[in-house]
Amino acid sequence: MDTIVRTADLRRVVRAWRNAGERIAFVPTMGNLHAGHGSLVAAARERADRVVVSIFVNPLQFGPNEDFAAYPRTPEQDRKILESLAVDVLFMPTVEEIYPRGQATTARVHVPELEDILCGAFRPGHFMGVATVVTKLLNLVQPDVALFGEKDYQQLMIIRRAAEDLCMPVEIVGLPTTREPDGLAMSSRNRYLTPEQRALAPRIFAALERAREAIEGGRRDFEAIEAEGMSELQAAGFRPDYFVVRDAETLGSPTPDSKNLVVLTAARIGRARLIDNVRVGEGRGAWGLGLGLEEEARRTSSC
Ligand code: PAF
Repeated sequence: MDTIVRTADLRRVVRAWRNAGERIAFVPTMGNLHAGHGSLVAAARERADRVVVSIFVNPLQFGPNEDFAAYPRTPEQDRKILESLAVDVLFMPTVEEIYPRGQATTARVHVPELEDILCGAFRPGHFMGVATVVTKLLNLVQPDVALFGEKDYQQLMIIRRAAEDLCMPVEIVGLPTTREPDGLAMSSRNRYLTPEQRALAPRIFAALERAREAIEGGRRDFEAIEAEGMSELQAAGFRPDYFVVRDAETLGSPTPDSKNLVVLTAARIGRARLIDNVRVGEGRGAWGLGLGLEEEARRTSSC
C-alpha cells in the first residue's frame, strides 16, 4: 500500500490506472477505522481492480464548538488495518493540500433543503462541508464507485444528490450499518462514551427497532411513533435532537406515495452525539417489497 499526501502524486497514480483501463473504488473516511470501515473497504475490493481509501479529518464540516480538535486520530493503527485489507493507496492529505487557499474562501457545494433538515438543523454548515470535501475527493480520485455507510443516512442522501445533480461519473453505493453485538451502531465517536453511557447506548437502536416494528405491524400514526421514540430516549437518559419517520428517498415526511421509509434519530449523551437509523421493511420498497438501497444506487442514472 502506498501512502500519498500530495494531490499531484495521487493524480499521477490514478492517471496510470485509468490509462491501463483499471476500475477504481474509493472509500472516504476520517480515520480511526473500525469494522464498519472494514466492511466498506472489503466491498470496495470486490468491486474494482484498485482501492483508494482517504483519511482526512475535514475541518470544513465541523462547527466552531464541535470536536474537530478532539476527533480521534490513529494513523498508525489505521495504516495497519488498511494494509491487511489490501488497499492500493491510502490518501492522507494535509488541510493545506485540500484547502490551499484556506477554508473560508473555497468554492462550496450546497444541496439545498436536504442539508438544512435533521442533523443539518442542529449542525449548521456541516453538510456543506461534507458535500464540498467529498466532491473534491471524488474529483481527485476519479473512482468508478464510491462507498459510504448507511449509518450516516442523511450524508449518503446528500452525497448521492450532489453526485447526480453535478453529473459526477461515479456510482454512489450505500452499505448497511455495522453494529456491535448489542446493536450499537459502530462509530468513531463511541469512544467518547463512559462505561455507563456505553451500557445505555444500545437503547438508541432498540428505540428505532420498536418504531420499525410498529410501522411494519401496520401503525401509520407517525407523529405518535416519533413522540414515543423521543420519550423512550429521554427516559433512558439521552438528550435526543430528533426521532423521526421519513420518506427514505426524499427525507421528507411520509406521503401516500412514499415507497420506502426510514426512522432516524440523533441523541446526545455526555459529550457524545450519536446518530442511527433503520429502514422500514429493510428498504424493500412499498414498506415491505421492492429494492434495497444498493440497488437504488444503480437504478439512479447520472447525467
Ligand atoms: O463519514 C465521514 O467519515 C465523513 O463525513 C466523510 C464522508 C469522509 C467526509 O469527510
